[in-house]
Amino acid sequence: MLHSNLTVGSNGHLFFNGADTVSLAEKYGTPLYLLDTDRVRERCRLYRETMKEAFTPDSEPLYASKALSVKGVYRICREEGISADVVSCGEIYTAVQAGFPAEKLYFHGNAKTGEDLDYALGQGVGFFVVDNETELRRLNEKAGDRGVRQKILLRLTPGVDPHTFEAVNTGKIDSKFGAAIATGQAESLFVCAQKCPNLSVMGIHCHIGSQIFDVKPFCDAVDMVLTFLNHIKEKYSFVTEIVNLGGGIGIRYREEDPVIDIRETILHIGSFLKRKCCELSYPMPRVLMEPGRSIVADAGLTLYTVQNVKVIPEFKQYVAIDGGMADNPRYALYRSRLTALIADRAGEPPVFQCTVAGRCCESGDLIGEEMFIQTPRIGDRLAVLVTGAYNFSMSSHYNALPTPPIVAVSGGADSILVRRESLEDLTIRQE
Ligand code: LLP
Repeated sequence: MLHSNLTVGSNGHLFFNGADTVSLAEKYGTPLYLLDTDRVRERCRLYRETMKEAFTPDSEPLYASKALSVKGVYRICREEGISADVVSCGEIYTAVQAGFPAEKLYFHGNAKTGEDLDYALGQGVGFFVVDNETELRRLNEKAGDRGVRQKILLRLTPGVDPHTFEAVNTGKIDSKFGAAIATGQAESLFVCAQKCPNLSVMGIHCHIGSQIFDVKPFCDAVDMVLTFLNHIKEKYSFVTEIVNLGGGIGIRYREEDPVIDIRETILHIGSFLKRKCCELSYPMPRVLMEPGRSIVADAGLTLYTVQNVKVIPEFKQYVAIDGGMADNPRYALYRSRLTALIADRAGEPPVFQCTVAGRCCESGDLIGEEMFIQTPRIGDRLAVLVTGAYNFSMSSHYNALPTPPIVAVSGGADSILVRRESLEDLTIRQE
């Protein structure tokens, strides 16, 4: 099976982290998100331990919580002793509600509002990742009003294209995020930050993209960033404490996707970074990484019920389910290719070619096309794999569909992390 938490039981059902998915669908109803919280923990530990080994002992992962921002996951991160990346007051609030220490939060965003800054300062968020000069000035003023010296990182755009694997791609310089090294804007952001008495520049941040399977673009980014930092050191005698390399390590959604070893990738980036520091005689910084997808993606799967099967002779076969783009918009948005299977007969060969259609009144509401699943029957449970990241967090109420619950599966036992939304919940804020 695609990931080691997926197995087929002796009854032919799909098991997820030791739990029978068909029984869970019966118990909780569908659509249903499952989250293998043991896997989430395992990944936090893998990043935490490997990063200590690859970089410095105080290097650590920050969970990029936009992938799945729920209290249960912040709690796991807190218990596993890792920090988190947040991008809104909502994520800060959810983290704090979960008892996550605000000083271990890193606040991102290219368009933080004055209210965002006030809220985050008020909560005692540890680090702001400052995107631009306007934010820098605003934050400096607000920190001054409160009499605090706020720790910040500066977001740089290294100009690395993770998809074509070219070392430098000018296209990436026009990103909406951060200050480009190549245009000199990164340097002016640094100079401006140094003049802010209420801000303390602790280091820099860069993020080159998501779902990356090759280590080379990460090394290219390290190369660009350290060359820049060395220039800053020589010109301004400023040595950075922190280098945050962002997230982006890929996860397999299908058998055809490349296999990536997270540990090997981090170790490789570590040895590249050490070599580069040595070459430039630059002191080894404390390194942060911000994995989101690779912490939670394969810890999730979604269960649906097959509502009907439509065969259009000589054209297509549709399998229609009781969920779709409202709970998993990734195919509709990005044409992301996913894996689905019939959970009731998971051991049978996937010989039925079909388009899996969602229930929304929109022809683009699909989970995938040209998918191969076991021959479906009405009432079967369809499992869509690897939905832990960017599914619940990007879900919508389109067609007034209530958001499905998230059920945690740990050591074969199940418990509710997020309850199913009710019809009453849908109108609770409406007059
Ligand atoms: N750090 C920053 C600053 C980011 O913008 C992101 C993701 C991450 C870390 C985490 O990256 P990851 O490890 O998850 O690749 N909705 C899209 C993915 C958008 C990613 C946005 N930023 C999807 O469903 O594929």
